Amino acid sequence: MKEKKFEFSYEVYDDIKELNKPDAELLSKARHSTAGAYAPYSRFHVGAVARTVDGDLITGTNQENASFPVGICAERSLLASAAALFPNSAIETMAISYDNKNDGTKSDRPISPCGMCRQALQEYEVRGKRPLRLILGGQSGKIIVVSSTSQLLPFAFTPDELV
Ligand code: THU
Repeated sequence: MKEKKFEFSYEVYDDIKELNKPDAELLSKARHSTAGAYAPYSRFHVGAVARTVDGDLITGTNQENASFPVGICAERSLLASAAALFPNSAIETMAISYDNKNDGTKSDRPISPCGMCRQALQEYEVRGKRPLRLILGGQSGKIIVVSSTSQLLPFAFTPDELV
């Protein structure tokens, strides 16, 4: 028997002012993009903005539906747009924010992508052949930066399994 360990490091910032300029701009845009979410059922408005390696910006917001399972998260709506609009480019960094309109919490701490989005992000990273950085932050408060999205999905099911 061998025991193995999975671990990864991530960065935690106390405030957006501590981020470098491009990262701060991306998170600020993600915070504002939550206004475009369609979330009448959960009232949990999520917005994501990504920068490609060529400097193009792409936005995604959660889009809910009266038939609940039809709804899509902000991260996957962004990835679909990215793949359609820039099929030959890769995302360098994606910032994800939210505005919880139910709000006891004031949306003041980071959220991280759901399991389904982690799977989608992981495959997008494989396709792009480069790490996809994530900046996670609420409307205020602490910010987490993860240097590669696949770190959030150990033991991922990947395209390699299908060959
Ligand atoms: N949601 C996202 O868009 N991204 C996440 O990372 C977590 C959850 C959406 C799905 C649903 O519309 C609402 O937030 C509440 O779960």
